[in-house]
Amino acid sequence: MATATAREVFDLLREDLVAVEQELGRDAASSVSTITEIAEYLREGGGKRIRPSLLLLASHLLGYDGPGAIRLGAVVEMLHTATLVHDDIIDGADTRRGRPSPNTTWGNEKCVLAGDWLYMQAFKVALEERNLRVLDLLIGLTQQMVEGELLQIQKLGKAVSEAEYYDLIFRKTACLFSTSMRLGAALAEASEVDEANLSAYGRSVGLAFQIVDDVLDLTATEEVLGKPVASDLREGKATLAVIHSMDHGTARDRQAIQRVLDDRSFEHVSRGELQEILKRNGSVAYAMTLADRYADQARKALTHFPDSDFKRALLWVPDFVVAREK
Ligand code: IPE
Ligand code: IPE
Ligand code: MG
Ligand code: MG
Repeated sequence: MATATAREVFDLLREDLVAVEQELGRDAASSVSTITEIAEYLREGGGKRIRPSLLLLASHLLGYDGPGAIRLGAVVEMLHTATLVHDDIIDGADTRRGRPSPNTTWGNEKCVLAGDWLYMQAFKVALEERNLRVLDLLIGLTQQMVEGELLQIQKLGKAVSEAEYYDLIFRKTACLFSTSMRLGAALAEASEVDEANLSAYGRSVGLAFQIVDDVLDLTATEEVLGKPVASDLREGKATLAVIHSMDHGTARDRQAIQRVLDDRSFEHVSRGELQEILKRNGSVAYAMTLADRYADQARKALTHFPDSDFKRALLWVPDFVVAREK
């Protein structure tokens, strides 16, 4: 079955995404102005809105056409935004969505609280569905994401295994993709099999998404990406390409990488030397091969759904995720 084009997907979702933006605008308002300012600032910064798009596509694929998809689309975007606010504090990042990150403008204390408020605002809006299944999914998701960020802190500076890496990126990223698909399925009162297939699709797209995010951190420029680059190593995070060079490179390669992870800087081993190591070991290509494999798994998870514009759009997403530049 043919894959949709970016234009077709955008046209298909245009009205819904406008409605999601309106819902997000209403939801960003607190009686405390600092919270509204931070929430508004992040909303205006844009972002790809990939999680609400997945939720909308999942629900429509299964024939759902009610207001819940807009509402829950805003909910998953708010949860995502809350994790970004907290993540930038934890990572000490100074840019997000091409602008100064909120923590640089408002400081960590206010941003921690704004993040908490956003989490609870997301749950408050989700509660309007009056659907315990929805809350169950969102609570499990939030715990997984927090556990993921915490496990990541525990592993900082360490040479993690590929298995540990996958567990981490599932929790911190793929779980939200998978849950967005499941929420769409839950709205449509999908069969268990359909929900499991959509969930598997979301997991695979999400894993590919984070693998590519981690590759872009190593290869992109800040102007294009809109957030800091080469930051993972400086934060002591070994991502897939780096793990590959540690596992398959020379003893010197391993030492050089470990040095950067220990120093949390490129002071003794330069960014250029690191890129040379990754290149010589084919490690970025290796990571991209795995991203492609997950993109493929995602498409396969859709095999049993009947043809439709929504299916064509879902087939496009994995292509977009692996080809994206930001
Ligand atoms: C950033 O997500 C956080 C990760 C999981 C890598 P996105 O790349 O989807 O961020 P926005 O919403 O488009 O800014
Ligand atoms: C993203 O991890 C995980 C989140 C849940 C926010 P990263 O730390 O790689 O995300 P970016 O690169 O800052 O967007
Ligand atoms: Mg980060
Ligand atoms: Mg990143």
